[in-house]
Amino acid sequence: MEITAIYPGSFDPITNGHIDIISRGLNIFHKIIIAVMNHPGKKSLFTAEERKEMIEEIYGDEARIEVDVFKGLLVDYVEQRGANVIVRGLRVVSDFEYEMQMAQMNRKLDTRIETVFMMPREIYSYLSSSLIKEIASYGGNIDCFVPKSIKTRLEAKFNAPPDA
Ligand code: COA
Repeated sequence: MEITAIYPGSFDPITNGHIDIISRGLNIFHKIIIAVMNHPGKKSLFTAEERKEMIEEIYGDEARIEVDVFKGLLVDYVEQRGANVIVRGLRVVSDFEYEMQMAQMNRKLDTRIETVFMMPREIYSYLSSSLIKEIASYGGNIDCFVPKSIKTRLEAKFNAPPDA
């Protein structure tokens, strides 16, 4: 049976930590749909479309990856895509409580859904998109945390004139 998994998140921007989870997921699942959350209430540096485009640039020739934008309830999106597996990364113990709460709630909302947790490499356990944005905004070195294409996008964002 071919299993499609949904990997949801903000991905503002995608980092090597997310990419590590996706690579591990491809060892288990036939296809992964990277679902970029479009949350109008959540402040993001990149628009949902920009985030999607940035991920597509990384996975351009990988037929087993699809990138999509979703809004609303995750369980509704999973249902709409005909999937029943959600992949989430667990970086550190402090992620666990929040992730378990979400997984349990999603299962309550839709009993068909299973959440699969995967652990990234230790060097990515302290990584977050916010930290990357902060370091990039001060011109710090993010080479080992994001692909080159993402670094270029961040530099363009932070070097753009205020109204761009
Ligand atoms: N490597 C590096 N960083 C990682 C990571 C990894 N493997 N996994 C998570 N992170 C970081 C992200 O970069 C992000 O950092 P930031 O807060 O600095 O931006 C942070 O962990 C949060 O991760 P993310 O996966 O983006 O989670 P989220 O909490 O923003 O969103 C959703 C989680 C989208 C799954 C959840 O909000 C959702 O389902 N929303 C839809 C509405 C819904 O159904 N609500 C009911 C849920 S029960």
